Amino acid sequence: MEIKTFKDHESLSAAVAAEILATLKNKPGAVICLASGETPRRTCQLLVELARRDKTDISQFTFIGLDEWVGIPPENAGSCHYFFQHELLDPLKIPNQQVHLFDGMSEDLREECTKMDAVIGEKGGIDLIVVGIGMNGHIGFNEPGVSFDNYSHVIDLDETTITVGQKYFTTPVSLQKGITLGLKHLLNAKKAILIANGTKKAGVIRDTVEQKVNNNFPATVMQQHASGFVMIDEGAASLLNQSK
Ligand code: F6R
Repeated sequence: MEIKTFKDHESLSAAVAAEILATLKNKPGAVICLASGETPRRTCQLLVELARRDKTDISQFTFIGLDEWVGIPPENAGSCHYFFQHELLDPLKIPNQQVHLFDGMSEDLREECTKMDAVIGEKGGIDLIVVGIGMNGHIGFNEPGVSFDNYSHVIDLDETTITVGQKYFTTPVSLQKGITLGLKHLLNAKKAILIANGTKKAGVIRDTVEQKVNNNFPATVMQQHASGFVMIDEGAASLLNQSK
């Protein structure tokens, strides 16, 4: 695992967008998995801008959505689906058949997981996964205590996730479960990037890189990835030993 520090959220986002573009230029049919949320929003916007400026056709990749809130429909602006569609997939004109998002409204969530794992397997695995980190150290909805051996699964959300998650919604919603790729998917991905910005993430970034690997702090899994990168801005890096 390698740590890369950037001046601010903008330069961090530009670097991650450039990394995604480079992956797609190198392998147009790559399998890319992204998280939704505040951290990757600017990355998505810059990727769209870069692709347009560059005039590169990057519409051939397979997109995998990292996770979804169970019980939240895609038209709800707080859903992960809405984020992916509006920030990335529509602007890049990615055909639906190349897009694989969990349906959090499905009556058979187990089947959703089976389908997702099958798609990733058929495509030969994930080339690049870009994830955020929650205030409890979660990645996707891999909450504290999760097994690193899980593939896609449905999980009870941690109290922190339920509370912090309200920030995505305009009116209070009941958040209880999430459906998510597992950490085994992250470990199996050819390259994994965890991104974080701002001083509010400084504590969780310190724990990610300085705690011993343990499943009570799921993001420590990044230490086990041979091609894992923690890409952060100076705020998120501010509690790291080496930056003191
Ligand atoms: C969302 C997801 C979550 C977020 C994390 C950080 O798809 O997978 O794990 O990445 O909660 O969220 P932000 O970026 O909003 O701070």
